[in-house]
Amino acid sequence: MNTETARDTTLAMAGDTPTSVLALALLLCLPCTGYAGAFDGLTANTPLALEIMRQAKSAGMRSYMNQSVQPCEDFYAYACGNFARINPAQEKIVTTDFRRTLLTGYQRRVQQLLNGPKMSTDSSTETKVKYFYESCLAAKTEEWRQRQQLLALLKELGGMPAVEGSAWNESQFDTIEMMAMLLRRFGKQTLLQVNIKPGQSNTQYNALYLGQRVDLAHVKAEHMSNQLTLQWMLRHLPGVSDWRAQETAREITELNKALAEGVEALLPGQRHRVRLLDEMSLDYGPQLNLTRFVKLWLGYEYRVPVHESGASYFWQLKKLLDRTPKRILANYMLSSLLVDFEMMPCAQKTNELFADIVDHMVYRSLEKQTPHIPGSLRRLWQELKLAFENILRAPANNWLDEKTLNEALEKLKAMSFLMLGSRADQFEKYYSSLIINTGDYFGNVQRVVELHAHNMIEDLQRADTHLGTYHSIYSSPFYVPKQNLVVIPVNFMQHRYLFDDAYPMALKYGTFGFLLAHEIAHGFDDFNRYIDAQGNQRNWWQHNATLEFEQRKQCLVEQFHAYTYYGHRLLKRQTQLENIADYVGVRIAYAAYHSWYSQLPEMESEVLPRLLLSPQQLFFLSMGQLYCSDVMSAWRLKNVITDPHAPNEIRLKAIVSNFEPFSEVFDCAQDAAMNPTKRCVIY
Ligand SMILES: *[C@@H]1O[C@H](CO)[C@@H](O)[C@H](O)[C@H]1NC(C)=O
Ligand SMILES: *[C@@H]1O[C@H](CO)[C@@H](O)[C@H](O)[C@H]1NC(C)=O
Ligand SMILES: *[C@@H]1O[C@H](CO)[C@@H](O)[C@H](O)[C@H]1NC(C)=O
Ligand SMILES: *[C@@H]1O[C@H](CO)[C@@H](O)[C@H](O)[C@H]1NC(C)=O
Ligand SMILES: [Zn+2]
Repeated sequence: MNTETARDTTLAMAGDTPTSVLALALLLCLPCTGYAGAFDGLTANTPLALEIMRQAKSAGMRSYMNQSVQPCEDFYAYACGNFARINPAQEKIVTTDFRRTLLTGYQRRVQQLLNGPKMSTDSSTETKVKYFYESCLAAKTEEWRQRQQLLALLKELGGMPAVEGSAWNESQFDTIEMMAMLLRRFGKQTLLQVNIKPGQSNTQYNALYLGQRVDLAHVKAEHMSNQLTLQWMLRHLPGVSDWRAQETAREITELNKALAEGVEALLPGQRHRVRLLDEMSLDYGPQLNLTRFVKLWLGYEYRVPVHESGASYFWQLKKLLDRTPKRILANYMLSSLLVDFEMMPCAQKTNELFADIVDHMVYRSLEKQTPHIPGSLRRLWQELKLAFENILRAPANNWLDEKTLNEALEKLKAMSFLMLGSRADQFEKYYSSLIINTGDYFGNVQRVVELHAHNMIEDLQRADTHLGTYHSIYSSPFYVPKQNLVVIPVNFMQHRYLFDDAYPMALKYGTFGFLLAHEIAHGFDDFNRYIDAQGNQRNWWQHNATLEFEQRKQCLVEQFHAYTYYGHRLLKRQTQLENIADYVGVRIAYAAYHSWYSQLPEMESEVLPRLLLSPQQLFFLSMGQLYCSDVMSAWRLKNVITDPHAPNEIRLKAIVSNFEPFSEVFDCAQDAAMNPTKRCVIY
């Protein structure tokens, strides 16, 4: 290990000034996961404040490490050996990693913003969100209304058998009608997953996707706790009797499990079959008449081909519709409404229902606090693109013939980057008709849910909205192939976690830079390489380049299959999306860091106190710690089978073993585990 470039700067504590007392108190709490957030109030850029922040970051990073392990022997154990002890996975949090830390900081900020004053400068959508939050706080004292409103709604929908008992008349119940109505009015996806996204071969227009409920794949591991939650909700929300709540929860869980049996692990490429609804209806028969379902949902005949995914799920559903009593199907579907009547922390509920507006509020507050951050992240994005361009043009990649190379460069050039929360241009249009009443919380929830359901139908007639509005809380960056777009959740913009002006830039390139580079690389993985710069499905690869790519990919296929995780050998997967993104991502991020570093004036120091590491070593350590995680033991094997990502521990070891600069930077011996003689390289 090269320690010459690192300096151990000890913090000079200047007496008992209030700042240093504060600093000391904070430093004592360092192993706590949320340590970075503790500095939210510390904005003075004095040398002391900056030094405190570097001390804290160093202590945080060190707390995860096991420095008795040699980085060249097991980089995961070295970087993350202590992580699980500090952030253990639990029943409710089955995996822990840095995303949780970012999310916690984000949630704290959301809470602050919602509790903040209402201002005349707030936009009308922001005002709606604050009124909604207020109505939620007020509703806590009016629980009686909750049951009253839920029961009235269930009655209006024909009644829920669990509530009505023997008075429920099954002859008036129609499964397809109920499924369509719940989707039409409340956006509830009951027996099928329904999505509206750009079409596969023509990305200009949105298409309809019908498929298996992928979320059911998790049912097996969770079903006991789900069943108990459901039982509790049935008991407390509509007020179903104890034994009937138990019975109903059991029946619903059984049906979930039976449906889950039809869920297939689908690889990209084999995901969709494009065909007409009438063809599907002929296959699945009158019980699962999809023509009728879609017509009842949309209010008109839909004659354009749809994207169908998971045929075995449809067959399973058809079978279950035949043999399941209508009473159970009705309880199953109507129970999807309960969640809207559950009291949960008001900030969380507001965040879930108005994810896009809340993200925008967070974005603005971060921008106000540190105005230069969006610009500096955009610069980093440009640097990464340039670094990848240079990699593609380098002699080592001359297996890419000129034609293929030019197409690749064009795609790279056209690729864009969006920070969620930075756009508000669609809000007025989307939310203008929404009425929020501070005295009617459950009514508000209904109206928001109905608005989303209505807009979903409208989306089918619209060209894609490019994430102008959305209704999920995102905790990971992602790549949208159809739009050739990299999307970063707003919580990644929070400084003092992954990166900060006070920290060495190595950390910014190693974390944020690497995450962005991973997403850039997805544009050129084994699936997305068939998609062009405009997002259309088109093979722009020349024959020989394809042969070479396949050969390089095969190296990864074999390599990952050789790894074992808790005694289980990883499956041999032909699809290598995530591994390719990782391998290429580290090359891009490291090259960008290298070129930034080589222009650095001599005296600038890229070190962290009490971490005897060179800037380049810091780059790898910060990147490595993105992979620190703990997984509940019951989930470990399941993840190996269902998750396209290999286990974190293996991903990290594979990344560094395949990247020679790692071994150079850590001065690994010839026979070290992280320094193999055979490496796989894609680009
Ligand atoms: C750190 O690594 C050493 C050497 O492998 C090992 O003996 C020790 O148990 C590890 N410590 C922790 C906390 O895992
Ligand atoms: C259920 O409804 C049908 C049709 O509306 C009616 O003929 C039948 O008598 C009802 N059954 C009961 C038990 O109320
Ligand atoms: C499906 O429903 C439509 C009416 O929406 C009907 O015309 C068609 O015959 C039905 N198909 C099957 C297979 O039952
Ligand atoms: C493709 O590769 C083969 C064998 O290496 C070579 O003979 C052929 O000329 C190449 N084709 C092109 C278009 O470069
Ligand atoms: Zn990925």
